[in-house]
Amino acid sequence: MAVSVQSDVARKMDPGPIVTSTGAALGAEVHGVNLKKCDETQFSALRRAWHDHQVLLVRGQTLDDQDLIAFSRRFGDLDWAPVQETGRRFVEGLPEIYIVSNVTINGQPIGSLGAGEAVWHTDMSYLDVPPMASMLYAIEVPLAGGNTSFCSMYAVYDALPDELKRRIANLKIKHDGTYNSGGYLRQGVTATDDPRSSTGAVHPLVCTHPDTGRRMLYLGRRRNAYLVGLELAESEALLDELWNFIERPQFAWEHVWRVGDLVLWDNRCTMHRRDPFEASSRRIMHRTQIKGSAAPV
Ligand code: OGA
Ligand code: MN
Repeated sequence: MAVSVQSDVARKMDPGPIVTSTGAALGAEVHGVNLKKCDETQFSALRRAWHDHQVLLVRGQTLDDQDLIAFSRRFGDLDWAPVQETGRRFVEGLPEIYIVSNVTINGQPIGSLGAGEAVWHTDMSYLDVPPMASMLYAIEVPLAGGNTSFCSMYAVYDALPDELKRRIANLKIKHDGTYNSGGYLRQGVTATDDPRSSTGAVHPLVCTHPDTGRRMLYLGRRRNAYLVGLELAESEALLDELWNFIERPQFAWEHVWRVGDLVLWDNRCTMHRRDPFEASSRRIMHRTQIKGSAAPV
């Protein structure tokens, strides 16, 4: 067996980040990195691991909003967060920060999504150029519930029957901008349940990842989704058929949060959902979103 003594020595001198796959269809945990002091070599290793695994977990971090923004910016420019369901910005002076929380102060929620389920979705895919990545950092977590699952849209696409792949090859899908994943109406938008007329962005249903070159199914979210040009009933039936694949555990990895966890996901080739949790417990997460480089193709 070939063993490289030299590389073992090099590893002892500078172990660099250690990347351990979750063993599921996607996701890896990274050990041995402080995101406030990550050098260029460590950062390149992180970026590579992120492309390989689509979702990265880094535990035991202590980040304030400025630290979270500074680390996020190393991947690219940031998108401003959507405004809160109440119409307010989450953090005065830091429009990049999105807060996911059920906590209220003087009866006003400090964040979005409440304590209910957040259904499978891609972040902000109702934009023409959706964010390429999101980063979520855990500040307070409940004792139970509120787990977040991720699924690989590469793996979902690969698993589709060939006949279905052929049927969807040239279709375009509207990603609705009316409701968020908690089912709340977005600020400034008129409520509607007609996917043909709802606001949103149209993207190809099958896309190619700009960095990895891999194909993926690009669904966004189920509510008010619409396959452009089809009769509504035909669109609904085909979307249901595709969404039937999403719930299969073989495509997913579920994360149980601890305070200090940072999770970075590729928002192009994954979707995520969150379990509900006890409304009387507190959960506070801060998020940034990194701008996409181009519209999905
Ligand atoms: C998000 C999101 C779910 C969660 O931050 O984009 O969907 O686990 N969060 O809070
Ligand atoms: Mn989300």
